[in-house]
Formats: sequence, C-alpha cells, structure tokens
Amino acid sequence: MAAAVLIFLLCLTAGALTVRCEDPYLYYTWNVTYGTLSPLGIPQQVILINGQFPGPTINSTTNNNVVVNVFNNLDEPFLLTWNGIQHRKNSWQDGVLGTMCPIAPGTNYTYRFQVKDQIGTYMYYPTTGLHRAAGGFGGLNVHSRIVIPVPYAQPEDDFYVLINDWYGKSHSELRKMLDSGRTLARPQGVLINGKSGKPDGKGEPLFTLKSGKTYKFRICNVGLRTSLNFRIQGHTMKLVEMEGSHVVQNVYQSLDVHIGQCFAVLVTADQTPKDYYMVASSRFLKGSPLISTAIIRYADGQGVPASPELPKAPVGWAWSLNQFRTLRWNLTASAARPNPQGSYHYGEINITRTFKFANSASKVDGKLRYAINGVSHTNPATPPKFAEYYGIPEKVFKYDVMGVEAAAKISKVSIETNVLNVTFHDFVEIIFENRENTMQSWHLDGYSFFAVAIEPGTWTPEKRKNYNLQDGVSRHTIQVFPKSWAAILLTFDNAGMWNIRSEMRERAYLGQELYVSVYSPRRSLKEEYNLPDNAPLCGVVANLPKPEPYNA
Ligand SMILES: *[C@@H]1O[C@H](CO)[C@@H](O)[C@H](O)[C@H]1NC(C)=O
Ligand SMILES: *[C@@H]1O[C@H](CO)[C@@H](O)[C@H](O)[C@H]1NC(C)=O
Ligand SMILES: *[C@@H]1O[C@H](CO)[C@@H](O)[C@H](O)[C@H]1NC(C)=O
Ligand SMILES: *[C@@H]1O[C@H](CO)[C@@H](O)[C@H](O)[C@H]1NC(C)=O
Ligand SMILES: *[C@@H]1O[C@H](CO)[C@@H](O)[C@H](O)[C@H]1NC(C)=O
Ligand SMILES: *[C@@H]1O[C@H](CO)[C@@H](O)[C@H](O)[C@H]1NC(C)=O
Repeated sequence: MAAAVLIFLLCLTAGALTVRCEDPYLYYTWNVTYGTLSPLGIPQQVILINGQFPGPTINSTTNNNVVVNVFNNLDEPFLLTWNGIQHRKNSWQDGVLGTMCPIAPGTNYTYRFQVKDQIGTYMYYPTTGLHRAAGGFGGLNVHSRIVIPVPYAQPEDDFYVLINDWYGKSHSELRKMLDSGRTLARPQGVLINGKSGKPDGKGEPLFTLKSGKTYKFRICNVGLRTSLNFRIQGHTMKLVEMEGSHVVQNVYQSLDVHIGQCFAVLVTADQTPKDYYMVASSRFLKGSPLISTAIIRYADGQGVPASPELPKAPVGWAWSLNQFRTLRWNLTASAARPNPQGSYHYGEINITRTFKFANSASKVDGKLRYAINGVSHTNPATPPKFAEYYGIPEKVFKYDVMGVEAAAKISKVSIETNVLNVTFHDFVEIIFENRENTMQSWHLDGYSFFAVAIEPGTWTPEKRKNYNLQDGVSRHTIQVFPKSWAAILLTFDNAGMWNIRSEMRERAYLGQELYVSVYSPRRSLKEEYNLPDNAPLCGVVANLPKPEPYNA
C-alpha cells in the first residue's frame, strides 16, 4: 500500500519533467495442479491454484500492471481468461484459443496485462476443454485509485462470493460426454466459494461480520450453465457496481446472477446478532431447484444458529427481466472509463453496422453442436490471431464465413473457424436473437458495451424506439431469456482479435462462439502491441521467422 502511494507521488513530480513513469506492478506466481476435494460431499478431482479452490483473488488498482506467471502442472494444455479485463491493444493476453497458444503441460507462461482505465469486480477462469468444471476460477477486482472518489463510504471489508453450478464428474468425463455428442444436462449441485451447504445449523461461517458495520460482497456466477439467484436471510443488498460500472444504488432482496456476471453489493450487519444464511439457488432448471447455503456470523452473536427457514427465490423469468430493467448506470459517479469520449452520449452516435446473432442447437453428423447463424466454431491448431499477425490468414481460416444477418430459419449448420472482419472504430449494434427455449448468456472480450434492451419476441428495427439510450449499464456480459432478444451498442476501438462467446461453457465448447478481427492496417504500437516474446507458438507459425514488429 505505502509503496503504491510513493510511486504515485513520484510520478506526479516526474510528469512535470516529462519523464516517463510506469504504473505499479503486481506479481503473482501460480501453480495450477489437480487435487482432490469433496464439494458435494464425495471426493472428486478439482483444479487448484497454489493449492486453493477457488483460486486466489487478484487485488489490483486502476492502471496496475498485473504479471501472473502460470505453471501448468495439469496433464493437458491450459489457459486462463481474465473475464471483463479489456487488454487495450493487447488481445495477446486474453487467454482464449483464438489469440493464444495454450500453455503446454509442465511449462509456464507469464501473462502481462494492465487493468487500464478500469474499476470493478471481475473474475478469471480456464478456457481450455472443460477445465472450468473443475475449478481454476477466482476473483479479480480493480479498486479506484485513491484520488478518485467512490460513490459510497469505504466498507469495513470486502469479500468475493463465487457461486456456481457443479457436477460430480471430472472435467475429462464431462468433456467426453460433449465429444460423444451428448449434453451435460442437469448439474448436481450449487457451490458458494467452493462448498455446498445445507441449512442444518452446522458448518463453519464463511464470513464473520461486526454488528453495525457495512461490508461489500462481490458476487460472481462462475458456473457452467445455470443462472443463480442470490439472497441473504434477513438482509437487503444495496447494489453499487456491476461488471465494472458504478450503478444507481437500488436495494434488492435478491439478485439473479447469470453465467459470467458479477455484482458488488453493500450489506450492513444491522440485524439481531446471530447467524444468517446466504443462499444461492438455481433458476430456470426443470425439476426442483438446486440450493446451497453459507453461514454469515455476527461476531457478537454468540453463535446463535440461523433460522432454517430460507428466503424464497423468485419464480419465472419475467421477474428477472424486470430486474434487468432496474439496472442503470450512475452517470455522475466518477470512475475510470475506457472510452470517456462518447460514453455519456452513446445514444447519439450513428450506428454504422448491425449484426444479428442467432444461437441454435442441432445435430451435425449425429452429434450435438451449438452455432451462431448456422456456423459452429472450431479452433484451428494455429490461433487465427497468430495467422493474421504472420500475414498468412489464408493458411488457417477464411474471414466472414458467417453472415451477420441470421436467416429466418437456420436449416444447415457447418463447423468452421468463425472470424468476422470488422472495421476499426465502427459503432456497432449487436442483436442477440434467442429463438431457443433456454437461457443464454453472451460475453464479449476486449470491450465493455452498452446493454440497451432485452425484450421477449423477435427484434425489428422499430424496437430501437425502446432502447435505453441514456443510462444503460456499460458491461461485458448480457443474458437473453428464452424466445427473446437483447441489444448492445459499442465502438470497436480496441484493435486486436476478440472473442464473442456463450458464457455457458458447454455451448462455447461445442461451437457457440466467434471472433471479431478489429484490424488496424497501420501496424502501429499506438494501436496494437506486438506478439510478446514469451508467447508459446503452435501450429503453422511454430517454425516461421517472427514478422517485422509493429513500430511506434
Ligand atoms: C506445483 O505443485 C506441485 C504439486 O504440489 C509440485 O510438485 C511442484 O513443485 C509445484 N511447482 C511449483 C513451480 O511451485
Ligand atoms: C486490496 O487492495 C486495496 C487497495 O489497495 C487495499 O485497501 C486492500 O487492503 C487490499 N486487500 C487485500 C485483501 O489485500
Ligand atoms: C517461466 O518461469 C520463469 C521463472 O521461474 C521465468 O523466468 C520465465 O520467463 C517463465 N516463462 C515464460 C514463458 O513466461
Ligand atoms: C451516483 O454517484 C454520485 C456521485 O458519487 C452519488 O452522489 C449519487 O448518490 C449516485 N446516485 C445514485 C442514484 O446512486
Ligand atoms: C447521423 O445521421 C443523421 C441522419 O443520417 C445525420 O443527419 C447526422 O449528421 C449523423 N450524425 C453524425 C454525428 O454523424
Ligand atoms: C475487412 O474489411 C475492410 C473494410 O471493409 C476491407 O478493407 C478489408 O479488406 C477486409 N479484410 C479482410 C481480410 O477481409
């Protein structure tokens, strides 16, 4: 802490003398291994980071340089993505197979990225295979710099609450199911910070609170496919931030957290001192909901147990849609913004292109595949971003194999590498059309976007009249309800190749993802960084000479 302040002061002085100064560095060394734990009461294989499940929290501040040396001691190639971190000019660190070669077993790779102009609550998780089903996930928060006012009083403490659905099978068994053409189907349980709990009055408290104090809980759904409702017995939650934006501070009894989403809430320990349950329960699952609890304890409560009567979950998805409509960006809160020019006035920018992405589930050669506009993505042995950088894209993939207007009826699905060519700086509208009868959660790497609408039915241009063009939350993940659509707006101002994926791992693994190539023909370091020297190489570029680097 003291060191960080010192560096900041030095920078101010140096700035006047136009001496270059660097933002502070945070260093982490992570050992990724298998371990055995019993999240559902029965021992099973899990993925640990430095022996921890969930993994360690990255605790950073705006503009910090984060250096994470990841040692892969699994028996399979491995990558982590930093969900919601924008990696300006640097899709090389995004941790997805389209822009990185995976870290081979027994080797290490050092991620280097800056949490530039960002604040808020994020998570990281594995993107290779079905590793996320075994762990390897954790929290990543970005505090505001000390000089930036935060629109609420400093909480007494700050905790991550990672919630997720869970299967009793190993990641390799689950992957085999998908490879053989079957779906994962219903999960077996729900976890809160890696454990499942029952309201039986037993168990250790997850958090201990002091009466009268206010705490921040950062709630993220790190699961594979299931939306979860989160609530705390006897307490309300004041929402202050979500996915990197300060929001209008509404008070909620419960929150629906869809896959890949994070909410930061303030909770005041203002009730009778005793134990209370936090509850996470599945939404929209056929059959009875899966429920997990965790105990929060008032330090002065003398361990008086929590009441076994849990607060009820909402019913149906209309409730969830209404909750989405209450989420508003706080336009007057100061915070680092990646794209300050235009952020307030995104509603006044003319749309240059409209993309419509329709998801589908169907069989290809007898096996289940998920697709976007009839194209089911497959990762080639060479990351498309590398092929583009080396100037040999045609050896690896074709651009624009997918149409950007979904056909009214998707009759044929093809398995191809799905890379869309978009123009640097275009202001784009993306409509996610969900014609299926299941929930969807979509995520875009490299950017935050304005979530302007989610509505039931079919999108038409007239629906633009209903967009929230004032205070839609700037975020990176958006859910789409069954037989509904969602609209987002964004400027493609971050050069690189960026993944748009279903946050539901089964869907992305079986093809419901694509890449957008935001190509800057200038090959200038002002717009994009060079392939890092330490990047593992693979596929056709492995033995090619490195291309001429970008220059200033
Ligand atoms: C990682 O953990 C494994 C298993 O505990 C151990 O054998 C190995 O030495 C560790 N590697 C590093 C780099 O710490
Ligand atoms: C995280 O970082 C913030 C800001 O530097 C600091 O106040 C806090 O003590 C840190 N928390 C932990 C658990 O290290
Ligand atoms: C692997 O870790 C070592 C330190 O143990 C480090 O010097 C080296 O740069 C790392 N390799 C990569 C590719 O990041
Ligand atoms: C928005 O942020 C401002 C500035 O910090 C704060 O004063 C205000 O209460 C916040 N507004 C809402 C509705 O939360
Ligand atoms: C947006 O489009 C309208 C109508 O085509 C045009 O009059 C206006 O000048 C455009 N605005 C900008 C900022 O380009
Ligand atoms: C991408 O689109 C731009 C603008 O339309 C065009 O100039 C460029 O040739 C396209 N690139 C590829 C690889 O198709």
